[in-house]
Amino acid sequence: MAITVKSEREIELMRESCKRLADVFQNLESAVRPGMSTLDIDAMGEKLIRGHGCIPNFLHYNGYPASICVSVNEEVIHGIPKRDHILQEGDIVSLDAGLIYKGYHSDMARTFGVGEISEEAKLLIERTKQSFFDGIKMARAGNHLFDISNAIDASIKPYGYGIVREFVGHGIGSKLHEDPQIPNFKQLRRGPKLYAGMTLAVEPMINIGRADVVVLDDDWTVETADGSLSAHYENTILITEGEPEILTLY
Ligand code: MF3
Ligand code: CO
Repeated sequence: MAITVKSEREIELMRESCKRLADVFQNLESAVRPGMSTLDIDAMGEKLIRGHGCIPNFLHYNGYPASICVSVNEEVIHGIPKRDHILQEGDIVSLDAGLIYKGYHSDMARTFGVGEISEEAKLLIERTKQSFFDGIKMARAGNHLFDISNAIDASIKPYGYGIVREFVGHGIGSKLHEDPQIPNFKQLRRGPKLYAGMTLAVEPMINIGRADVVVLDDDWTVETADGSLSAHYENTILITEGEPEILTLY
């Protein structure tokens, strides 16, 4: 399937979808604290999404049982919210969520510290975020997709962290996952050319230790194979002739 270029009307709907999602995240960020269960976060997130008149797009996606992916510490992505998983001081928690507004999808992720966290966890979170911003410096019309991948890789390389390879970013629009796939590690080819009006979810997933991940028996939760901490940072962006528009910032 080809990469879709959105019309002005579609872009407006994408902006609105993303704006609402950013508001959900702002509320979730201020709510995260020790003693909260990961299911509490899901319940709150679903309520916030529905409060905006929107639909949680992760719920029942390929059978995923919740609205918010909540992944703690060595969990990389797709953590399933649980009543008996209580956040502890010093944990890091990655929240990943999206919603549908008038048929258009948004998608974003952040890793937050729970209370006071270690210096190495803070650095991991900060550098994962920085790799996103380094990556999207290349995200403009006329450049090629893998210029973004290579820039993310180059941003992380000095730290020796593991870049997750099995899961990647993606196009987004009237579907949650559209073409193209957007790897976060160095590519040999340049990939497809970027055009103004493409909307992409760029989402580095970075491990303090090795890059390898395993999927748990619940068929969803992805963890680092070596048990090291992992962080995730994702925004939905719009390609323009100049700097990209980051649609999910708050
Ligand atoms: N958050 C994933 C992404 O960014 C999609 C999650 S699908 C779900 O592409 F089923 F786990 F919700
Ligand atoms: Co995504």
